[in-house]
Amino acid sequence: MTNNRNIAILISGRGSNMLALFEAIKTGRLNANVAVVISNRADAAGIKLAQEQGYQTLVIPSKGLTKAEHEAKLISELEKYNPSLICLAGYMRLLSAEFIQKFPSQILNIHPSLLPAFPGLDVQQQAIDYGVKYSGCTVHFVDEGCDSGPIIAQAVVEVLDTDDKNTLAARILVQEHRIYAEALEFILNGNWKILGRRVIKT
Ligand code: GRF
Repeated sequence: MTNNRNIAILISGRGSNMLALFEAIKTGRLNANVAVVISNRADAAGIKLAQEQGYQTLVIPSKGLTKAEHEAKLISELEKYNPSLICLAGYMRLLSAEFIQKFPSQILNIHPSLLPAFPGLDVQQQAIDYGVKYSGCTVHFVDEGCDSGPIIAQAVVEVLDTDDKNTLAARILVQEHRIYAEALEFILNGNWKILGRRVIKT
């Protein structure tokens, strides 16, 4: 891991987690420098929001390219910005093993369930359908699997009898916005190691 506090944020959509990271930086809860925000979709609302706040943005469309072609472009752009960490924030593409191996323990993701329960998509609905009483969110390192890398931080959210996937998602999102910044600050500070699957303080 390079020894700087540059981060790259990868998005595909509305970018509320990205905005929460901006806010955490502004208020001093997160000491990081957002070097670039990259979207694979030109119509991602988050790209406009990042531009409005003066951040460096890039759109690298995945449409019409093979995964290898798209990732090669992504890697060459990322390398220009020398990020310590690559933060996935609603980035809707699975990264290949080759990509992940280029950035060992440098790619983080936020997921709206208490992993390992409910990896994948539409997970708030999955949690409701399963009948769990608690769900939440997880910040984890990205490995070759789907939402399966070592866990950095989690927050628990109660599932109410009255919840539908939207109300549950909204309460989980509040916690996402809190723990992503906290987890990033923890990882950037460097006082941690991975023991087996466990991310522990040193
Ligand atoms: C969040 O729920 C995040 O956990 C998941 O995708 C959603 C992205 O939302 N990976 P946003 O674009 O950050 O608002």
